[in-house]
Amino acid sequence: MRRIQQWAQDEGLNLLILCPNDFEDRYRRLGFAPEPEVLVWHPTGSIRQDYANSEHSTALRNLGDDDEDWERLAKWFANPHVREFYREDSDIQQVQAKFGPRTYTGSRVRPRVILHDGIPIGYAQFYPLTEEEVRAYQLPNTIRWGGFDLLIGDKTLWGRGIGKAVIRQLLDEIVALGLSHVAIDTADHNLRAIALYQKMGFEMERVLKRWELNQSNVLMIQELH
Ligand SMILES: CC(C)(COP(=O)(O)OP(=O)(O)OC[C@H]1O[C@@H](n2cnc3c(N)ncnc32)[C@H](O)[C@@H]1OP(=O)(O)O)[C@@H](O)C(=O)NCCC(=O)NCCS
Repeated sequence: MRRIQQWAQDEGLNLLILCPNDFEDRYRRLGFAPEPEVLVWHPTGSIRQDYANSEHSTALRNLGDDDEDWERLAKWFANPHVREFYREDSDIQQVQAKFGPRTYTGSRVRPRVILHDGIPIGYAQFYPLTEEEVRAYQLPNTIRWGGFDLLIGDKTLWGRGIGKAVIRQLLDEIVALGLSHVAIDTADHNLRAIALYQKMGFEMERVLKRWELNQSNVLMIQELH
C-alpha cells in the first residue's frame, strides 16, 4: 500500500479510492478516511456493485463419485491461474483415482464442491491432520489439529468474498469433527490467500523453507472456539 501511495504521489494523482469489504484500522493507519461526498457510478456488471446490492449464496455439497464432478475437478485443476497456487494432476483418470476414495464413507479427507448461487465453482476439503503432518509442521502432537484446502476454479470469481464464506463453513465443519486447532500452509507468494487467512483469524506460525517444488510456504494456525 505504501508503494502504491508513493506511486500516486509521484504520478500527481488527486485521490486513491479503496473499497475494502471491512473498514479496518490498518487502512486508517495508512491515512485513508471515509469520504461522504463521493458519488459513485458502476457500469453494468461491476462486481462490487453486484455483490453489494444483491443476495448471493455460498454453500458446500459432498463431492459426487461421478463423471460430472471428475470433469469439473479436472477443469479447475487445469486452470493455469489455479495451478499457480494449487497443484493437482488434471488428468481425469488420475482425478478419479485420487478423489474417488475420498467420497467413500469414513474417508479421513472430506471432499466438497463449492456452490455459488447453486452453481459448482470450486473445490474444498477438510480433514484431521495425520501424525506425520503434525510432525512435519513441528506442531505439538497433544493437540487435535485440522486442516483444509480450497480453490475457486474461475479467476473472475476471485475477490468477491466467496473464499471468506467458504472458510467460515469449513471451520464450522472442522469444529464438528471435534478438532480444536487448524493449521494450513500456502505458498509464500500467495498473498491473496495469506490476507484471506489472516482475515479469518489465522496467525503466521513459521516459514516452511523449500516445502513444495522448491518453494517456501507459510504455516498459519488458529485455535477454534
Ligand atoms: C485463495 C482463494 C480461495 C480466495 O478466495 P476469494 O473468494 O478470492 O477470497 P475473498 O474474496 O473472500 O478475499 C478475501 C480477502 O482476500 C484479500 N484479497 C483479495 N484480493 C487480493 C489481492 N489481489 N491481493 C491480496 N489480497 C487480496 C483481501 O484481504 C480480501 O478481503 P477484503 O475483500 O475484505 O479486502 C481464491 O483466490 C483461489 O481459489 N485461489 C486459487 C487457489 C488457491 O490459492 N487456493 C489456496 C491455496 S492454499
